[in-house]
Amino acid sequence: MTAGKRSLNATIIKLGLVALGAALATVLLLLLYANISTRKQEARQTFLQLVELDETTVDPAVWGKNFPRQYDAYQRTAERTGTRYGGWGSETLPDSRIEQDPRLKTIFAGYAFAIDFRERRGHAYMLEDQRTTKRVTERKQPGACLHCHASNTVAFRAQGLKVGAPGSLADPFLSESAQAQLMAGFDAICAMPYAEATALVEHPVACIDCHDPQTMQLRVTKPGFIRGIAALAASADPLPHLPSIEKWRAGDRRAPYDANREASRQEMRSLVCGQCHVEYYCGPKETLFFPWDRGLKVEQIEATYDAHRFPDGSRFLDWTHATTGAAVLKAQHPEFELWSQGVHARSGVACADCHMPYLREGAIKISDHHVRSPLLSIARACQTCHRFPEAELADRVAIIQDRNAALMHRAEEAVVALIEELTTAKQAGVAEARLQAALELQRKAQWRVDFVNAENSMGFHAPQEAARILAEAIDYSRQGQMALRESAAASPLAAPRRD
Ligand code: HEC
Ligand code: HEC
Ligand code: HEC
Ligand code: HEC
Ligand code: HEC
Repeated sequence: MTAGKRSLNATIIKLGLVALGAALATVLLLLLYANISTRKQEARQTFLQLVELDETTVDPAVWGKNFPRQYDAYQRTAERTGTRYGGWGSETLPDSRIEQDPRLKTIFAGYAFAIDFRERRGHAYMLEDQRTTKRVTERKQPGACLHCHASNTVAFRAQGLKVGAPGSLADPFLSESAQAQLMAGFDAICAMPYAEATALVEHPVACIDCHDPQTMQLRVTKPGFIRGIAALAASADPLPHLPSIEKWRAGDRRAPYDANREASRQEMRSLVCGQCHVEYYCGPKETLFFPWDRGLKVEQIEATYDAHRFPDGSRFLDWTHATTGAAVLKAQHPEFELWSQGVHARSGVACADCHMPYLREGAIKISDHHVRSPLLSIARACQTCHRFPEAELADRVAIIQDRNAALMHRAEEAVVALIEELTTAKQAGVAEARLQAALELQRKAQWRVDFVNAENSMGFHAPQEAARILAEAIDYSRQGQMALRESAAASPLAAPRRD
C-alpha cells in the first residue's frame, strides 16, 4: 500500500466518522426533541386515564389512579398542622375551645356546644370527628349533620331513587332526574336519626363532590348550597363579588339561579367551599337550610331567622338559654359569608387562591389539594399577588387577628355581663315580661359575638366587617343592661308583683 493510498483511506475513515457522528448527533437531537415535546404534552395533559370514572365512583383512591398528585395532597389533610389561631391537626383529639375560653360556657349554657366544641382539623377527619363528638354521642342529632361531613352525592341520589325519584344513578348529574334524586334523597336522609344516616356514607368530602367525573370541571353537589345560593340570587343584597348572580338578576329569572350552569370558573373556586363553610340551620324540626333569603350579612341572616317559623308555627331559635331563658341563635363557621364582605372577594380572590394555591411539581402546575391554613405556605398563597417579604405578610395577618381577638374578648365580656345580670334578675323572680327587652338584646348581642367567634379566620377574611359586628355586640349588651335597670327602676323588685 502506498503512502497516498493510506492517507486516502484515512480521509475516508475520518469522513465516515464525521458522518456517523453527525447522524448520531441528529438522532440524539431528535430524541431530545421527542423527550421535550412529551414533557410539554405531559404538562398540558396532566393525567393519564387509567381507570374509568363515573357518577358512582365515590372512593377517592380510585380517582387517585388518574390523578395521583391531587390524591396525595388530598390525603395529607390528615397531617397535624397548626398556627396561632388556626386549627390543630391529627394524632390526638383537637384542642377544646370551651376549655380555652370559659366565657363560652356561660354564653352556650344549655346547648350541646357547651359540652364539646373543639378546634377544627383537616378534611380527612371530618366524618370521624363528627361521629365521635359528644354533641353526637350524648345528644340526639339528625342525619342532616352529614351534609357537610361526608361524601354524599351518591348516597343522596341512591336514597332519592328509593323514595321514588325518577331515573337511575347513570343519569348525568345535571339532568332533571338526577337533580330530583339528589333533592328527594337529601330530604329523606336529613330526617333520619344520625346513626341510621351515617351508615349510608363512608368517606369524608371526596373528588366527586367538587368535580365532574368526566370533564373534571368544578361543580357543586350539596343540596343545601344549591337551594341556598338560588335563594340568595333571588334576594336584593348587592353581590358584586359574584358577577354571574348579578347577570342572572338582569335576565328574565324564569329558572332559579344554578351555579353549575351560570358561575364562572373563578367563582366556582369559592362556591365549592361555600357548600359547607357557611352558617346553616340543622336541627330536628325541619330540613337543613342556608339562611340567605335576605343576603349574607349578619343582620340579614338574623332578619331571615326572625321572620322564619318552624313548621309547627313556633318562633325560630337554636335553643333556650339555660339561665336567662332567652330564645337564642347559634352561628356556625360563616367563612363564605364573612369572606363575601372583604376586600379579597371584592377583588376577585377566591378561597382556592389562598387555601389551594398552585404547586409546581416538575414541569406540572397543580392546585394544592392539601387544603389548610395559607399561613403555612405564604410564598405560594400570598406572594403571587403581594410583593412583600414573607415575614411582613405574616405580621400583617397577626396584627389583624390579634386586634380582632382582643375586641372579640371584650365583646364576650359584655355579653357575659348581660347574661349574669339577667340570670340574677330571673333568680330573684322578676317576671318574664319585664325581662323581655333585655332578653331580645341578649339574642342580638350573642348572635353577633358568636358569628365572629365561629368564623375561623379570626377576622382576617374581612377585618372591618368583623370589627363592625363586634362593636354592635358590645352596644347591644350594654343596651340590654340599661333596659334591665330601667325596668327595675320602673317597678323595683321590692314592690309587690302585679304581673
Ligand atoms: C386572601 C386569602 C384568603 C382567602 C381568599 C380566603 N381565606 Fe380563609 N383564611 C385565610 C387566612 C390568612 C386565614 C387564617 C389562617 C390561620 O390563622 O392560620 C384563613 C382561615 C381560614 C379557615 C380556618 C383555617 C384553620 O387552619 O383553622 C378556614 C376554614 C377558611 N379560612 C376558609 C375559607 C373559605 C371557605 C374561603 C372562601 C369563602 C376563604 N377561606 C377565603 C386566607 C384566605
Ligand atoms: C363537604 C364539606 C366541606 C367542603 C366542600 C369543604 N370543607 Fe373545609 N372543612 C369541612 C369540615 C367539616 C372541616 C373540619 C374537619 C374536622 O375538624 O374534623 C373543614 C376544615 C377546613 C379547614 C381547616 C383545616 C385544618 O387543618 O385545620 C380549612 C382551611 C378548610 N376546611 C378550607 C376549605 C376550603 C378552602 C374549601 C374549598 C376548596 C373547603 N374547605 C371545602 C368541610 C368542608
Ligand atoms: C353546612 C355544613 C355543616 C353542617 C350541616 C354541619 N357541619 Fe359540622 N362542621 C362544618 C365545618 C365547615 C366545620 C369546620 C369549621 C369549624 O370547626 O368551625 C365543622 C366542624 C365540626 C366539628 C369539629 C369542630 C367542633 O365544632 O368541635 C364537629 C364535631 C362537627 N362539625 C359536628 C357537626 C354536627 C354534630 C352537625 C349536625 C348538628 C354538623 N356538624 C353539621 C360544616 C357543617
Ligand atoms: C372541596 C373541593 C375539591 C375536592 C374535594 C377535590 N378538588 Fe380537585 N380541585 C378543586 C379546585 C378548587 C381546583 C382548581 C380548579 C380550577 O381552578 O379550575 C381543583 C383542581 C383539580 C384538578 C385540575 C388540575 C389542578 O390541579 O388544578 C384535578 C385533576 C383535581 N382537582 C383532582 C382531584 C381529585 C383526584 C380529588 C380527590 C382525591 C379532588 N380533586 C378533590 C377542588 C376540589
Ligand atoms: C390573587 C391575588 C391575591 C392573593 C392570592 C392574596 N391577596 Fe391580599 N389583596 C389582594 C388585593 C387585590 C387586595 C386589595 C388591596 C389592593 O388593591 O392592593 C388585597 C389586600 C390585602 C390586605 C389588606 C386588606 C385587608 O383586608 O386589610 C392584606 C392584609 C392582604 N391582602 C393579605 C394577604 C395575605 C396574607 C394573603 C395570603 C394568605 C393574600 N393577601 C393573598 C390580592 C391578593
